[in-house]
Amino acid sequence: MNSTLPPDLNPQHLPQHIAVIMDGNGRWATSRRLPRIAGHRQGAKTLKELLRCCKDWGISALTAYAFSTENWRRPTEEVDFLMLLFERLLRRELAQMHQEGVRISFIGDLSVLPKSLQAEIERSSAQTRNNQAIHFTVAVNYGSRNEIMRACRQVAELVQRGELTVEEVNESLVEKHLYTANTSEPDLLIRTSGEMRLSNFLLWQMAYTEMYFTDILWPDFNRAAFHQALLSYQGRDRRFGQVKASLSA
Ligand code: FPP
Repeated sequence: MNSTLPPDLNPQHLPQHIAVIMDGNGRWATSRRLPRIAGHRQGAKTLKELLRCCKDWGISALTAYAFSTENWRRPTEEVDFLMLLFERLLRRELAQMHQEGVRISFIGDLSVLPKSLQAEIERSSAQTRNNQAIHFTVAVNYGSRNEIMRACRQVAELVQRGELTVEEVNESLVEKHLYTANTSEPDLLIRTSGEMRLSNFLLWQMAYTEMYFTDILWPDFNRAAFHQALLSYQGRDRRFGQVKASLSA
C-alpha cells in the first residue's frame, strides 16, 4: 500500500495525536463463523498497519484502547487469550518497532496483569524510551474515572503531608498525576463499529478532541478508511470554545 500522504490531505493540518477505540472484533469474527479470538488476532494486524501508516504520514502519536477495566467481565478464555496476544505481540514485534523508531508506552493499572506480560511491558517501554518516530501508547486495564480518582488521591496525599497547599491545586497539577503526564492530548478520536460512546477512555484528555465514528468493524479499518477519517477531521473547525479566528477581529 502507498506510504505517501494522499494528495487531498493537507500535511499542515494533520492531527498530531490520534486515539482509537478498536471496536467490532467479535462481530467481525462471528459474521465469518470464526471464534471471537480470530477477530482480536485480525484486529492486532489492523493496529500494526495503522501504526505504520501514522508513522508514514507524519502523525506523531497513536493511543489505542486495548483492554478496559470492564473487559475483565468477558469470558475467561477470551481474557486469557487477549493477555497472551498482547504478550506474544510485544515479544514478536518489539525488534521491528524499535528499528522503525517507535516509542512504546502503556497506561492503566498494570500491576494486576500477568507477571510475564508485565515483564514484556517493562522491557519494551525501557528499550524504546528514546525513540522519536512515533509515540505508541497502549491502554491496558485502563479506566479513565479510575485514573482521575488515582490522581486526586495522589494530590490529596501531597496536601495532607503539607507538601502542597489547596490553592496550588490546579488543572496542570492534576494532569501531572494522570498516566498521560507529559504527553499531548488527542486531536482526533476514532471509534469503529457504529458505537458512539467514550466508554471511560481518556475523559479528561479528550475535552477538546474531535470525534469520528464509523460503522466499519475494527479488523476492516484499513488505510482507505483512515484516509476518510482524516478528511473528515480536516473539514472540522476547531475552536476550543472560542469564536472562529477570522470572525473575532
Ligand atoms: C473490542 O472488540 C476489542 C478489544 C476489547 C480488544 C482489542 C485488542 C486488540 C485489537 C489487540 C491489540 C494488541 C495490542 C498489543 C495493543 P470487541 O471484542 O468488543 O468486539 P464486539 O463489540 O464486536 O464484540
